[in-house]
Amino acid sequence: MTNQSKIAKQIADLREILNEHNYRYYVADAPTIPDSEYDRVLRQLQDLEHKHPEFITPDSPTQRVGATPLTAFTQIKHEMPMLSLDNAFDLAEFSAFYNRVQDRLHTTAEIEFACEPKLDGVAVSLLYENGLLTRAATRGDGSVGEDITQNVRTIATVPLKLRSNQLPKRLEVRGEVYIPKADFSKLNQQAMNNQQKTFANPRNAAAGSLRQLDANITATRHLAFFSHGLGTIEAKVFPQRHTLQLEHLKLLGLPIAPYLETALGMQACEAYYQKMLQLRDSLNFELDGVVFKVNDINLQQQLGFVARAPRFAIAYKFPAHEEMTRLNSVEFQVGRTGILTPVARLEPVFVGGVTVSNATLHNMSEINRKDVRIGDYVIVRRAGDVIPEVVAPIKAKRKNVKQIKLPQQCPVCRSELIIEDAGIAVRCSGGLFCSAQRKQAIKHFASRKAMDIEGLGDKLVEQLVDSEYVHDIADLYHLPREQLMSMERMGEKSVDNLLQAVEKSKTTTLARFLFALGIREVGETTAKTLANQLRDLTTIETADVETLQSLPDIGPIVA
Ligand code: IVH
Repeated sequence: MTNQSKIAKQIADLREILNEHNYRYYVADAPTIPDSEYDRVLRQLQDLEHKHPEFITPDSPTQRVGATPLTAFTQIKHEMPMLSLDNAFDLAEFSAFYNRVQDRLHTTAEIEFACEPKLDGVAVSLLYENGLLTRAATRGDGSVGEDITQNVRTIATVPLKLRSNQLPKRLEVRGEVYIPKADFSKLNQQAMNNQQKTFANPRNAAAGSLRQLDANITATRHLAFFSHGLGTIEAKVFPQRHTLQLEHLKLLGLPIAPYLETALGMQACEAYYQKMLQLRDSLNFELDGVVFKVNDINLQQQLGFVARAPRFAIAYKFPAHEEMTRLNSVEFQVGRTGILTPVARLEPVFVGGVTVSNATLHNMSEINRKDVRIGDYVIVRRAGDVIPEVVAPIKAKRKNVKQIKLPQQCPVCRSELIIEDAGIAVRCSGGLFCSAQRKQAIKHFASRKAMDIEGLGDKLVEQLVDSEYVHDIADLYHLPREQLMSMERMGEKSVDNLLQAVEKSKTTTLARFLFALGIREVGETTAKTLANQLRDLTTIETADVETLQSLPDIGPIVA
C-alpha cells in the first residue's frame, strides 16, 4: 500500500468508528464508550485531516454536528444552524484560542469573555412567539432537529409564557435540558428496583427522557432547563453583550445557570475555570467544563463561524469523570461485618484527576445486572470523594472474557459464606476468627469517631494482626514497647505518641465506646441513644429486648 492510500484507509476507519458511535450516542441513546474515548478518536481524525486536507469530505464526522434525527418525531428545520463548540483540554489550548481571537480582532488589548458552566445535558431550541412557547426542538444534526414541544412543555423550569410588557415578537432561546444529580440517582435507583436498564450518566437520562414519544413519561423525569444563548430574534431592542442578553432572558422568566460571570483577559478566565473545577462536585447539576464566549456581540459577528463551531467561543473541559480501561481481575475484600465486596483490579487509568487501579463492583447482583466480566473493557467513574466504581462493560470490545465467580469460602479465613438479602449480600461466617474482620474491627475501634487513637493507622493494625501481637481490641491496651518498635516505620517518637494515645483513649464517653465496639446496626446515633437513655454499661448489657425497643428510633432488628 502506498503511503497515501494507507492514510486514506486510516481516515476511513476512524470515520467509520465515529459514525458508529455517533449513531449509538445520538440516535440509539445507548453509547458504548465514554465521551473521553470518543473525543480522543475524533481528535485523531481531526489531526489526520488537518495534515492531509485533500482527504476532507463533507460527510466526515468532523464536518457536522450530530446524526440523523429519529423519524418518529416531526422534523424541524432550524432557522439558524445550531452549532457545537470547539474544545480546549488544557491551559495551552485555551491560551492558543485566546491568542487566535486577539489576532483575528487585530488587538493586543485584553478581551472580555462571558463565562458560564458547560452543562452536561441536551441542547434544545425554544421558540417564543408573542411571548408564548410555540415550539421546541432538539439540535438533531444542527440544521434539522425534532419537534419535542409536548415533552418540553412538561419541564417545570421552562416558562410556557414569558413575563414582560414589552414582549419580543419572535424569540428563539437555546439552552440545555438536564437532569439534576439527585433526580438522576433516584431515577436509576427506581430502574434498578424494577429490574430495568439504568442510564449510564445524567446526560443520557436527560436525552432518553426528552425523546419519549409519550410526554407523560417525560413529565415524571424531573428534567430542568438553563438558557445559554439565542437563535432568531425579532424584537425592538435587545442587549448587545452576551451576559446582558442572558440577564435579559432571566427577566423574561427564562432560567439561566448560576455562576454567569465576565472575565477580562486570559488570567481571569483561568481563575474562573479553577473556581468552577473546585465547585464542580458540590453543584446539583453535572458540568463537564466551562464555556467562554467573547462578550461583545459585534466582536462575535466579526469573528464569525467555521463549519462546526463559532470562532468566538470555546469549551474548556474538565478532566473526565469517566474513562475506559481493562478489568484484569477481581478480588473479594472482607469488610468489618464480614460482607464480601468484589473489587476490580484495573489497568491503571487517569480519571477525575488521579490514577485509579482499583474500583468497586459493589456486589454480585450488580455484577450480574451490569454483566461485567474479567478481561472486559469497562467504564470507570470517579467523581469527587466517592470511591471509584465500575459503571459498565463495553460489550462491543468484548473478547476472551471470563465470568466473575463468587468464591466457595471466605478468601481470607476459609470459613463458610452466608448469602443474605436475597443474594445481594454475601457474608463470611467467621466473625472475629476471620483476620480480615478482626483488622477492620480494630481499625474501626481506633477510628476518629470511635476511640480516636491517633497513630494507630491501617497499615500498623494490619502488621500487628498479621504478626499476631494483636488478636482483639483488649490487646491494644497492653502493647509492649519492643514489639511496637519492631514494626515498620515505627521509631521512639511514634511509639511514645501511640502509647500515649492508647492511654488517653481510656477516658472516653460511653457513646463513643459503644460505637467503637462495632456491634452490627449500632451506629453513632444509636450508640448515643443507648448511652443517654440507659446511662451505664451494666444496664445496657442486661437490658432485655422490650426495654431496648422502647427507646427512640430503636426497632426490633436493632434491639
Ligand atoms: S453555547 C454557538 N453554552 O455544549 C454556541 N453551549 O459541546 C452554542 N452546552 O451544543 C453553544 N453548556 O449543547 C453553550 N453554557 C453553554 C453550554 C453549552 C452546555 C452544550 C451545548 C452545545 C455543546 C457543545
